[in-house]
Amino acid sequence: MAAVTRIALVSGANKGLGLEISRQLAAKGLTVLLTARDAKKGEAATAELRREGHSVDFYPMDVTDTGSIKRCYDYAVRKHRRVDVLINNAGIMLEEDKAGPALSASVETVRRTFETNVIGHLVVCQIFIPLMEMHGYGRIVNLSSGLGTLSEMEGGFLGYRLSKTALNALTRVLAHETKGMGILVNSMCPGWCRTDMGGPEATRSAEEGARTAVYLATLGPKGPTGKYFRDKKQIDW
Ligand SMILES: NC(=O)c1ccc[n+]([C@@H]2O[C@H](COP(=O)([O-])OP(=O)(O)OC[C@H]3O[C@@H](n4cnc5c(N)ncnc54)[C@H](OP(=O)(O)O)[C@@H]3O)[C@@H](O)[C@H]2O)c1
Repeated sequence: MAAVTRIALVSGANKGLGLEISRQLAAKGLTVLLTARDAKKGEAATAELRREGHSVDFYPMDVTDTGSIKRCYDYAVRKHRRVDVLINNAGIMLEEDKAGPALSASVETVRRTFETNVIGHLVVCQIFIPLMEMHGYGRIVNLSSGLGTLSEMEGGFLGYRLSKTALNALTRVLAHETKGMGILVNSMCPGWCRTDMGGPEATRSAEEGARTAVYLATLGPKGPTGKYFRDKKQIDW
């Protein structure tokens, strides 16, 4: 029997880590369903990867818009029949005053950050995990951050920190609930990477940051689930 070509959906993939994760997954022979909230930017990123010879498809998806997630799901089923890998990469960091204390933080900023960084990924998982369950295979990678690591928690970036800690909790919950279904759910920190979010001073390239996502996306059947990784190694929550 011919090997199945795995289909990987990446959110927020028009630039930064999402684009680089898409490139590396495609280079490994997966077919990538690149998604982005802005169709023009997503199509341009898709064209870039195709020019490099990769198998990449595009569909728009805004993780804060349930209708758009459902439309993307319908498209994925119609066109590819399955989604094997889900990279929950879309993310925002809205804090302008990076060191701003929690006691004077804008609650509206915290709420808006949660809409994308937590609720958005929850809804994506609610819509796509049943499809993975049907096929008995799934690899879910949640792009978290050291800023959400409880054991290293300090001040500043309040909404972003809380959202990534909550995303880690979602990883644990989903890993628990999908045990025995062939679905592995893990969180990762890419390290501080040179993207629009990380800025030019960051210590790593997007290419380095993306590697752990690819590792977790291609875990074998006995791979870990409900764990947290950096540089392909398990780290403390
Ligand atoms: N860079 C770092 O140092 C670093 C460190 C730790 C964790 N991370 C995490 O890694 C992930 C990727 O970060 P990055 O550095 O590549 O950031 P980035 O360059 O700012 O890219 C973020 C991506 O998310 C997309 N996005 C934002 N809101 C969205 C929504 N509602 N629906 C769909 N897509 C949305 C953006 O789309 P637009 O272009 O339309 O805005 C963009 O494509 C994030 O979750 C981030 O928190 C990054």
